[in-house]
Amino acid sequence: MKSCLIIFSTTDGHTKKICERIFNILSDTHKIKILDLSGAYFEDLSNYNIIIVGASIRYGKHKKELYEFISRNRRTLEKTETCFFSVNAVARKSEKNSPSTNPYMKKFLKQSGWIPDHTEVFAGEIDYKKYKFFDKHIIRFIMWLSGGPTDTSRKYDFTNWYNVQLFADRLINK
Ligand SMILES: Cc1cc2nc3c(=O)[nH]c(=O)nc-3n(C[C@H](O)[C@H](O)[C@H](O)COP(=O)(O)O)c2cc1C
Repeated sequence: MKSCLIIFSTTDGHTKKICERIFNILSDTHKIKILDLSGAYFEDLSNYNIIIVGASIRYGKHKKELYEFISRNRRTLEKTETCFFSVNAVARKSEKNSPSTNPYMKKFLKQSGWIPDHTEVFAGEIDYKKYKFFDKHIIRFIMWLSGGPTDTSRKYDFTNWYNVQLFADRLINK
């Protein structure tokens, strides 16, 4: 049985939710562990056959801790089968939902210099009720500009959960 580590970098929890879905799908076929980015700090990554990293975007950026993690563990990551996926709201648009068309994925690969074996992009969630006043109104404005939903009493899950399933299935069948 292959061992797999899933690491998530999240602010509001949606990336964790996606990682937990992948965890559940892989748990029958893999010896599997899930950690948040800070929990992965002391983990010996060389114990794993597959490492999956999922990270969300906020105000145009992945967290700086993500870049630090990649840089610190670069050698081990290069020797292991790795997957990276980014979670963001622009990926709800069909022309920006693949690794080659999503601006944040392209920027991440360029800035980190890391070349994961598999990359994926998932559209995230907008849950207006969760956000503080400033974030709520900024994100609402961005949504309005980009033709997205603006009803601040609602939550919008843009994730294509079928694609999450396919992503995990591809790893099972490798
Ligand atoms: C304050 C705020 C800023 C955001 N900025 C961006 C952004 O610049 N680009 C984008 O595509 N999505 C943006 N998003 C959408 C998030 O990437 C999306 O909500 C994602 O699901 C968050 O994942 P998380 O819950 O794991 O942190 C933003 C969301 C919030 C609340």
